[in-house]
Amino acid sequence: MIEKKSIFDEVINEIHNLWVNNLELSNFVKWPKDLCLSKIKSNKVEVTNKLSKWKRKDHSSTSKIHNLISTLSPYVNWEKGYDEKEVGKKFLKKYGFFELIGPTGHFLTSKMGLYVNFLDSDTCYPWHNHEAEELYFVISGEAKFESKNEKSEILKSTNTRFHKSYQPHSITTTNEKILTFVIWKNKYENISKIVNYKNF
Ligand SMILES: [Fe+2]
Repeated sequence: MIEKKSIFDEVINEIHNLWVNNLELSNFVKWPKDLCLSKIKSNKVEVTNKLSKWKRKDHSSTSKIHNLISTLSPYVNWEKGYDEKEVGKKFLKKYGFFELIGPTGHFLTSKMGLYVNFLDSDTCYPWHNHEAEELYFVISGEAKFESKNEKSEILKSTNTRFHKSYQPHSITTTNEKILTFVIWKNKYENISKIVNYKNF
């Protein structure tokens, strides 16, 4: 039996390593020194087990972090963030996230938010926006990222993409699923809202 706390510790150490070795992440937000593990109940959603079963066998820079997060998946507080009315049933079966670091996360801090997002294959995360400035970092898989007034691009492992405050953005997967870190800074009060925006 693996001890739960030790998985959280391993995950946070590995993310810290990633931070100190990646300027895009460390320039976006400084690694908080005040992190402490809080007691939050776990909650499962449809994608929890999909992530538990998704293991990587390659030896690239993100495979260790991927496999640790996959092992952590059953122990975290998964959320969906949206109502069925806003995004539809199909999307909610294929999407989930958990706040690993943040004001209400497993590791508490008021200085940043770090969410782990999972989006299954053949899924469109509709256009949405929020007050917080945001940086996506792809751990595994790939997806098309679109944002208002910017070129769309396919992002893969280690790629990043920045979204300004209230800039509408959307994410679409085809054959592959995608696992990302989503990092928020400055504002957390206004959560993500679906917006009526079309990229043409
Ligand atoms: Fe976002």
